[in-house]
Amino acid sequence: MTTPSKTRVLTGITTTGTPHLGNYVGAIKPAVAASKDPAVDSFLFLADYHALIKNHDPAQVHQSSVEIAATWLALGLDPAQVTFYRQSDVPDITELTWILTCWTAKGLMNRAHAYKAAVQTNEEAGEDNDFGITMGLFSYPVLMAADILMFNGGKIPVGRDQVQHVEMARDIAQRFNHHYGEHFLLPEAVVDDNVAVLQGLDGRKMSKSYNNTIPLFEGDKKLKKAINKIKTNLLEPGEPKDPDTSTVFQVWQAFATDVQTATMRKEFANGIAWGEAKKQLFELINAELTAPRERYNELMQHRDYLEKTLQQGAEKARAVSSPLLAKVKAAVGLKPIA
Ligand code: TRP
Repeated sequence: MTTPSKTRVLTGITTTGTPHLGNYVGAIKPAVAASKDPAVDSFLFLADYHALIKNHDPAQVHQSSVEIAATWLALGLDPAQVTFYRQSDVPDITELTWILTCWTAKGLMNRAHAYKAAVQTNEEAGEDNDFGITMGLFSYPVLMAADILMFNGGKIPVGRDQVQHVEMARDIAQRFNHHYGEHFLLPEAVVDDNVAVLQGLDGRKMSKSYNNTIPLFEGDKKLKKAINKIKTNLLEPGEPKDPDTSTVFQVWQAFATDVQTATMRKEFANGIAWGEAKKQLFELINAELTAPRERYNELMQHRDYLEKTLQQGAEKARAVSSPLLAKVKAAVGLKPIA
């Protein structure tokens, strides 16, 4: 096994839905920043095979890939500096998935949170345990393991909910290495506690499933409208307000410098009107998003450029995956007769 000289940081983005402000603050911004570190070799990919687990609408599956590719590039991901590709352009990953599937204990998959949650939902609804559960959902952690192991990804930045999957990838790699010799680097999940989990309009975690998101690139009018909908209490202008229980303040903090945050804290104590706080919040966010939004709109008009960029990324990715897959296949006995 050859260990890459730089730390290889790898993460996948499931291509469902349109990115919102919570995705930007919680995932895209830190990943783009990390990708600029010269000591890091970033592998970032559109997990479009993962999208098929949740979404069976071809137009949506496709559109989401286009939007997510354009979003990351608009926000400064430099395709020359990183390896940015679409999972489905690297068939080595799905080939490896099968080989790993044959080394994955069914019992391990039974313990996966996403699968267990689906079973529990069925139980509560009085349905058969397996109702609506595809093999895609059940064996999704194997595909994720192949995503990681195919590139010897060492550090895997993920949200808390994904740590278990990275541990499963480690487990699968260990079993394989034990039987066939060292082929795979054992990956480690990296959870960044400093990354803000942005609150949504209703104060819960911003998430498409709660329908409480603030759009990222839908234009300044929609941005303003969404910010005006952030839930507040009924305190009047002039009445002191508590920043630490306020979504307006929490979102402010995610975009502001320390000095701007301290200033806003004082404004809250001085009784800033909700309307004024929201106006300032809109201006702060809009200032940061205006240039990327223009790039995004431009990229969405240049689909040939997006496609070419992803193809070039896939070529870079395949240069890494195909020699390793060839070795793995030979190790398990899949090789030419002579
Ligand atoms: N399952 C991850 C998520 O839903 C996305 C993903 C797919 C991923 N493959 C990966 C993340 C490999 C890290 C590494 O967020």
